Amino acid sequence: MAMKSPNLCSSLFLVLTFVSVIVSGSENSFEIQSFDEGYTHLFGDGNLVIQRDGKAVRLFLNERTGSGFVSQDLYLHGYFSASIKLPSDYTAGVVVAFYMSNGDMFEKNHDEIDFEFLGNIRGKDWRIQTNIYGNGSTNFGREERYNLWFDPTDDFHQYSILWTDSRITFYVDNIPIREFKRTAAMGGDFPSKPMSLYATIWDGSDWATNGGKYRVSYKYAPFISEFSNFILHGCAVDPIEFSSKRCDDTSSPEQLFAFVTPSQRSKMVSFRKKHMTYSYCYDQTRYKVPPPECIINPAEAERLKKFDPVTFGGGRRHHRLHGKRQHHSQSEADSI
Ligand SMILES: *[C@@H]1O[C@H](CO)[C@@H](O)[C@H](O)[C@H]1NC(C)=O
Repeated sequence: MAMKSPNLCSSLFLVLTFVSVIVSGSENSFEIQSFDEGYTHLFGDGNLVIQRDGKAVRLFLNERTGSGFVSQDLYLHGYFSASIKLPSDYTAGVVVAFYMSNGDMFEKNHDEIDFEFLGNIRGKDWRIQTNIYGNGSTNFGREERYNLWFDPTDDFHQYSILWTDSRITFYVDNIPIREFKRTAAMGGDFPSKPMSLYATIWDGSDWATNGGKYRVSYKYAPFISEFSNFILHGCAVDPIEFSSKRCDDTSSPEQLFAFVTPSQRSKMVSFRKKHMTYSYCYDQTRYKVPPPECIINPAEAERLKKFDPVTFGGGRRHHRLHGKRQHHSQSEADSI
């Protein structure tokens, strides 16, 4: 392990970080920051309320406006996390987003890594969506959607993004739910320019719930989303020079998480089996040929097909493959 930092303090911090990562079996224990240490108010005057201890924030959406905040720094790679409690009751059309983007700096070729929470009608659960754009690849969605094993409106749960040079991992309560690996075929589609971290709540009436069927009902306003346990652990970058300004440790986050333990991996597999309801890799209405990074898992394909045959392989293609489905899955898996 090469320690490049001449600074004793940061070297010590690095060692301590490693120790804590190892001890807790790759469940990280980075420093939790106050709102003012890492963030600043972005929009929605009066609709962002910092709690008295300075470590938690409430974002309101009412008929006047949504609200949001943004990290003070731009980051190139790192581990970014917050505990979030979503608004309860009737939340159709409400969108809460926790994401990284550089859309304000690169209008035509921005990068983005998203956690999006989509509200629902009463009695139906919130859904989570993850998505990734690189260098302006916005006409090429890489969405996945999931339901959760808990009610995200009941309590705080931790949502985290690990972004390195070679992969992006999304975590819920320290369980990896999606691992997105960079491949050569992806070209510029992998986020590779510095981004800010954002949290917002807004009116997504036009698309959030059944493609706009259920709009936000302000009868139930204000919608309040709470954020706490802020972790911004990465390489801060100077916005003008794009040179490294401050790295929270001298090693890359990649090394800190070098070992997704077998137990974490099996949790990820089981999460995806139980809770994933959509994956662009299997969406035959959008991509006749799955994008190059997709590794088609025949069991997953079958499960999604049963669940939504129109999107995941019913329709015209289905009867052509009738009776040969097993073979088809196999060859699809082999060819990728
Ligand atoms: C990103 O997009 C810009 C502008 O379209 C292009 O010049 C550049 O080559 C792209 N970068 C990569 C890594 O694809």
